[in-house]
Amino acid sequence: MGLLEGRKGLIFGIANDRSIAYHVAQSLHEEGATCGFPHLPGEKNARRTQKAIEAIGIGDPWLIPCDAASDDDLDAVLAATKERFDTIDFVIHSIAYADRTYLKPGMFHQTPRDVWSQALDISAYTLVAMAQRFKPIMPRGGSIIAMSYYGAEKAIPGYNVMGVAKAALEAATRYLALELGESGIRVNTISAGPLRTLSSMGVGGIDEIFDWVAKKSPLQRNIEAGEVGKTATFLVSDLSTGVTGENLYVDAGYNIVGL
Ligand SMILES: NC(=O)c1ccc[n+]([C@@H]2O[C@H](COP(=O)([O-])OP(=O)(O)OC[C@H]3O[C@@H](n4cnc5c(N)ncnc54)[C@H](O)[C@@H]3O)[C@@H](O)[C@H]2O)c1
Repeated sequence: MGLLEGRKGLIFGIANDRSIAYHVAQSLHEEGATCGFPHLPGEKNARRTQKAIEAIGIGDPWLIPCDAASDDDLDAVLAATKERFDTIDFVIHSIAYADRTYLKPGMFHQTPRDVWSQALDISAYTLVAMAQRFKPIMPRGGSIIAMSYYGAEKAIPGYNVMGVAKAALEAATRYLALELGESGIRVNTISAGPLRTLSSMGVGGIDEIFDWVAKKSPLQRNIEAGEVGKTATFLVSDLSTGVTGENLYVDAGYNIVGL
């Protein structure tokens, strides 16, 4: 029997089979979890998400369009999730967005107000928006996980406004963990090392980051997306019932190196 047999939940953020969310879905599915998949609206997005999920071997996957920047869309996901699953045990937040014009080394100080607001809204506030909606349908408690990056803590050339959004995401995680703990809901972030995905390709200077991590991290390599999937499985499972408000690094140890 899998670690997650009988668990149900939502995975936000599968764009294709490179997405971190795809690897999380694969790992949770292997352990017996049942998942629903909100995806960006639009036929092309739906097709890409469906194709990726089918590659995992999930037959007849449940997809629902959702622009997480829209309260109406999130309300619709809540209503449809209630109807489909009644209650859930986990939510995976694996989404982020910032205008890539400003994700280039040297461009942070040029960030316009609307670009800042949009990045912080989609990449950080949406975790709060999801927690407030899904808490009532998590009566057994459960696990909420969001994806972060080291650029939340250190200034990484090119990560720019996304680093500010990740700092907000990590802080929001601690506040949510504090308030949802009494409902038995744990809230954590995974700080993943760099991976080649649609989103990361928009960050200027990313190739240099891959080279640097491979050279300087204790494990002397970059991570694989499946390693994030396995850590998410741990955080959804009863193996981590005492863990909340944490930021768990899956980065080949890069964050511990001082020189
Ligand atoms: N790739 C990396 O190196 C890396 C490292 C650490 C953390 N992360 C984080 O992991 C998460 C997933 O990113 P990824 O690398 O898998 O890239 P990805 O492009 O595959 O996934 C990003 C997802 O965000 C979704 N999204 C964007 N705006 C949205 C909106 N308004 N509403 C709903 N969904 C929206 C996209 O549709 C996509 O599915 C992000 O939070 C990202 O910042 C990525």
